[in-house]
Amino acid sequence: MADVGRHPKITLHTLSEVAEVKGFVGNFTVRIVKKARYVDASACAACGECAKACPVVYPDEFNAGLSSRRAIFMPFPQAVPSAYAINMNECLGNGCSKCSDACDKKCIHFHMSDEDFQVTVGSIIVATGLEPYDPREMDEYGYTRYENILTSLELERMVNAGGPTKGELIRPTDRKQPKSVGFIQCVGSRSHKKGGSYCSNICCMNTIKSTLVLKEHYPDLEIKVFYIDIRAFGKGFEDLYNRSRRLGVQYIRGLPGNVAERDGGGLRVAVENTGAGRIEYHDLDMLVLALGIRPASGTQKLQEMMGLQLTSDGFFLEAHPKLQPVDAATRGIFYAGCAEGPKDIKESVTQGSAAAGRAIRLMHRGVITTEPITAEVMAEHCVSCGRCAVVCPYNAITVDVKKKTPAVVNTAACAGCGTCAAECAFGAIVMNHSTDDQIISQVDALLADHPWEKILAFACNWCSYAGADFAGVSRLQYPANVRLIRTMCSGRVNEKFIWHAFSKGAPVVLVSGCHIGDCHYIDANHWTEKRIQKLHQKMEKAGIRPERLRLEWISAAEGVRFAQVMKEMELLRKSVTDAEIAETVRILEEGKKVKGQRPKAED
Ligand code: FES
Repeated sequence: MADVGRHPKITLHTLSEVAEVKGFVGNFTVRIVKKARYVDASACAACGECAKACPVVYPDEFNAGLSSRRAIFMPFPQAVPSAYAINMNECLGNGCSKCSDACDKKCIHFHMSDEDFQVTVGSIIVATGLEPYDPREMDEYGYTRYENILTSLELERMVNAGGPTKGELIRPTDRKQPKSVGFIQCVGSRSHKKGGSYCSNICCMNTIKSTLVLKEHYPDLEIKVFYIDIRAFGKGFEDLYNRSRRLGVQYIRGLPGNVAERDGGGLRVAVENTGAGRIEYHDLDMLVLALGIRPASGTQKLQEMMGLQLTSDGFFLEAHPKLQPVDAATRGIFYAGCAEGPKDIKESVTQGSAAAGRAIRLMHRGVITTEPITAEVMAEHCVSCGRCAVVCPYNAITVDVKKKTPAVVNTAACAGCGTCAAECAFGAIVMNHSTDDQIISQVDALLADHPWEKILAFACNWCSYAGADFAGVSRLQYPANVRLIRTMCSGRVNEKFIWHAFSKGAPVVLVSGCHIGDCHYIDANHWTEKRIQKLHQKMEKAGIRPERLRLEWISAAEGVRFAQVMKEMELLRKSVTDAEIAETVRILEEGKKVKGQRPKAED
């Protein structure tokens, strides 16, 4: 951080919060609220005289509450900038002024106020970090009731030479050195009831490291680790685990059911040892809870502000887990560290470097190249209804509905999903390189011969088409009469493509895309789902069996599912009679019977 603070090309905005993000790749405008420090950071020499004079005492967050700080404080010794700040919610204010009187340099100013300003940037790296799991939720471990139960963070501060006990391991109740310490793993991780259902990635190795540190300083200390399984993957990690075992640390497979306090502050842990197949009770002087990782508290707010995606666990979702692991779906935004998921220091550094590299690669030429598949508005057809702007996942379209000016697409922000074109009821949006006419020509070509024998399937480029590919390379058998049309996203499938297919005699039509939450264009497949639901209603009204149009979510890894869905489609196709197809063609040729069908587009 000190290097970053000194770098001539890096501007650090400390004590600052992002209030608004607007714009697109190469041209983001970020509104920042910089909180008042009440200390002139450029003049502060960090002598600490002000803190000595301050009468207000609060728990020190950096030391996990194991020591105290004053209302005027420096968050931690290596903080950048190296200057004190006042927490005005705690400070007694002008009436006290003891800190101000103690400051020789007169750098304390109670009249400072928050600053609100904007910066323009080309790309953004989201590195919002993590929050440790709150162990008060798991009351069976007694964290709120028994003083001699610490969290892994509290232990970390305690055994740190610069920590509140200068590195001494002591029991909070009697301040004596404990003779035995237990660690409980997976607190707030891998649980469907409390905390996250995911593995927090760092807890096993953090505990192993702590046992090594403790054994180094206290060789006679008895250490027991209660675990589900030890995940010591990664370079050198297994060696550390074996070293810990060789030093006498006992690893007991099973998580404790409950913890009770004994006389004198000791703790009794009841655990089912699944390795030995029996219930055991362990008496320990101290317990440490290995806390899991939670997404940072502002994640949701930032996600809404920037139009990003979250996983079901609440972390930011990357554009592609293998090919774009640090990119957001919105171009020009990247992720680093635990914002994207739990990870250790090494992985965070790797991802941070990758994100910086991706941002530099994008920006260094001074110009941005965009993909050719982008939306274009035919101004003469646009009625300024604003529908395209509503459905665009990237806010790339602007329409002034009141002034009735035609929609404008920002091609730098457009990712080419085609949802706008599919939703436009006036044919006013053209998707370059994937026009309606091109797709309709494909439908015509695929249904030119014996259409009643064909299964017409629209598959999104990123998941379902890749799923079909996977089924192929896995040599899975599926009906040979499937005809695939690839679209960038399932959101591109305009209802007129489907009407057209049925009017050409298609017995069944499948629309397939990425699973909800996995769409590569943020939430474009939500619109697909809504569109298909509406189409089903229209089909029913028109006297066409809605089951003949199916919507399926198939991921790139689901080759087996793709083959299975195609087999089901074949069964469905066989259930459609020639008379039913002929009747559908007749209904659609009459055209107007189906409300919402646009005969113009069919022409
Ligand atoms: Fe697959 Fe949107 S990219 S459904």
